[in-house]
Amino acid sequence: MIRLTGVSQTFNGRSGTVEALRNINLTVSEGEFVAVIGRSGCGKSTLLRLIAGLIMPSGGEVSVSDTPVTKPRRDIAMMFQRPALLPWRSVLDNVLLPAEMFGWRRGEHRERALQLLDMVGLSDFHKRQPHELSGGMQQRVALCRALMQQPKVLLMDEPFSALDALTREELSGELQRLHMEMGATTVFVTHSIEEAVLLADRVMVLSPRPGRVRRIVDVKIPRPRTLGHNAYLEEVARCSAELHELLLAPDAPPAAPPSTAPGQARHTTERVG
Ligand SMILES: Nc1ncnc2c1ncn2[C@@H]1O[C@H](COP(=O)(O)OP(=O)(O)O)[C@@H](O)[C@H]1O
Ligand SMILES: [Mg+2]
Repeated sequence: MIRLTGVSQTFNGRSGTVEALRNINLTVSEGEFVAVIGRSGCGKSTLLRLIAGLIMPSGGEVSVSDTPVTKPRRDIAMMFQRPALLPWRSVLDNVLLPAEMFGWRRGEHRERALQLLDMVGLSDFHKRQPHELSGGMQQRVALCRALMQQPKVLLMDEPFSALDALTREELSGELQRLHMEMGATTVFVTHSIEEAVLLADRVMVLSPRPGRVRRIVDVKIPRPRTLGHNAYLEEVARCSAELHELLLAPDAPPAAPPSTAPGQARHTTERVG
C-alpha cells in the first residue's frame, strides 16, 4: 500500500545543509496502522510530508497503491497537531472543504459530512464556528475533514499532542474505533510510547537526525485496546520497555575497542533481550 524505498531527504537552507532522513525503507500493508516515534527533529514530520506528496525526496522513492507519489492526492489525507480549521467557516463547511478542493458538488456530499460529524459525536455542532469548540472537538472536526476525501491512506502528525491527557485518551479511543470500522491505512507520528502501543500494529523507531530506521517493533495485542486494560498486559509492558530502550539508546553504539572481549561487545549492541 505504502512503500518507501531508500528514501532520503536533505534540506539546503540559508543556514546550511540539513540531512533529515537517511535510507528509509518501509512497507505498510493495506489497513495497517503504523506508528512512528523518535526524538524531536529526527525527521518524523518530513517523513509524513514525503508520503503526502508535499515534498519530493532527495533520494529514493515513495509510492502509494503502486503509484509513485509526486503531488498531493485525493487518496492520501493528512492531519496535523493543530486542527488548522478556517475560523470564518462553520464546522460543516470546514468538513466540506475537500469537496470544494476536489471540485465535487457540495450538495451531494453534505449528507456524508454530517454522518462523519455524527460518528465523532459532533452532529449538534455542525453550525458552530471553530472558536466555539474545545481543542479536542476541533481536532475531531479536522479528522472528519481528512476522512471526507475518503482517503486510502491517513497520515497523522502528532494529532493529539496539543490536547490534555484525558481528551487525548478519549480521542485515541475514537481513532481506534474508526480505524477498526473504516480500516484506512494509517501512519501516525507520536512521541508517546503509550499512544503508539495503544494504537499501532507496528511501531517504527527512528534514530536522532539524520533519521534512520532503528527498529520496527510488532505490537501483538488484540483489539479493542484501552489504556486501562493495557496497564495490566504483559505484552504491553514488554513492547513499551523495548521502545523506551530504543528511544534512549545512544545514537551509534561505540565501536568496540580491539581489546574488548566479544561478550562485552555484544552487550552494547543487543540492548533488548
Ligand atoms: N523545509 C525545511 N528546510 C530546512 N530544514 C528543514 C525543513 N523541514 C525540516 N527541516 C529540518 O529537518 C529536521 C527534521 O525535521 P522534522 O521532520 O520537522 O522533525 P520532527 O517532526 O521529527 O521533529 C530538523 O532538523 C528540521 O529543522
Ligand atoms: Mg514534527
